[in-house]
Amino acid sequence: MIALHDKEFVPFISNEEIKNAIAKMAQEIEKDFKNDVPVFVGVLNGSFMVVADLASKYHFDCEFTFVRLSSYDGIQSTGKVKKLIGLNQVLAGRSVVIVEDIVDTGTTVLELKKLFEKENVKCLKFATLFFKPEAYQQSIKIDYIGIDIQDRFIVGYGLDYKGLGRNLQNVYQLK
Ligand code: IMP
Ligand code: MG
Repeated sequence: MIALHDKEFVPFISNEEIKNAIAKMAQEIEKDFKNDVPVFVGVLNGSFMVVADLASKYHFDCEFTFVRLSSYDGIQSTGKVKKLIGLNQVLAGRSVVIVEDIVDTGTTVLELKKLFEKENVKCLKFATLFFKPEAYQQSIKIDYIGIDIQDRFIVGYGLDYKGLGRNLQNVYQLK
C-alpha cells in the first residue's frame, strides 16, 4: 500500500502488464500506419510515460509532439476543459495519433477532436493506455486501447493524485 497526500492506494496493475499493453498498441498502430509517417501527439502531463514506451515499441518512421489540455483537479473530473497549449507544428494533411494516459468521461477527447479537426489533418486517431468504459460519455471511437479498467481512481505510470504518483512504475487504485 502507498500513501499520496491524504489518500491510500493499493496495487492494481503491474509494470509488466502495462509494458505488454503498450507493445500491443504499438503493433496495432504499426499495422495501420507503417506506410505513412504518423505524428504522435502526447497529451501532457499524464502521457509522458506512455509516449516514451510507445516510441520504443514503434519501429517505423514517425514524429512526436506534445500538447497540454487538462480537465482534472483532484479526484473528480470537473467537466471544464482548458485550452490547447503547445501545438506549434503544421498538421494539415498528416495522420495524427493522439496519445492519452487515460480516457475517463471523454470530455478531453471531445475537446481534442474539435481542436484537431480545425487543423485539417488527414486522419485523426485516439490511443489511450487506460480506458474506463463505464465512465465514458462520448460516441467518439477510441481506436487503440491498452487496458480497460473499472471506474476507479488510479495513480502511477504518468497518472497523478494532486501532482504525486506519476513516477510510480506500477499502477495503484484508490483504497
Ligand atoms: P476525461 O476528460 O474525463 O476523459 O478525463 C481525462 C483526464 O482526467 C485524464 O487525461 C487524466 O488527466 C484525468 N483522469 C481521469 N481519470 C483519472 C484517474 O483515475 N487517475 C488520474 N487521473 C485521471
Ligand atoms: Mg491526461
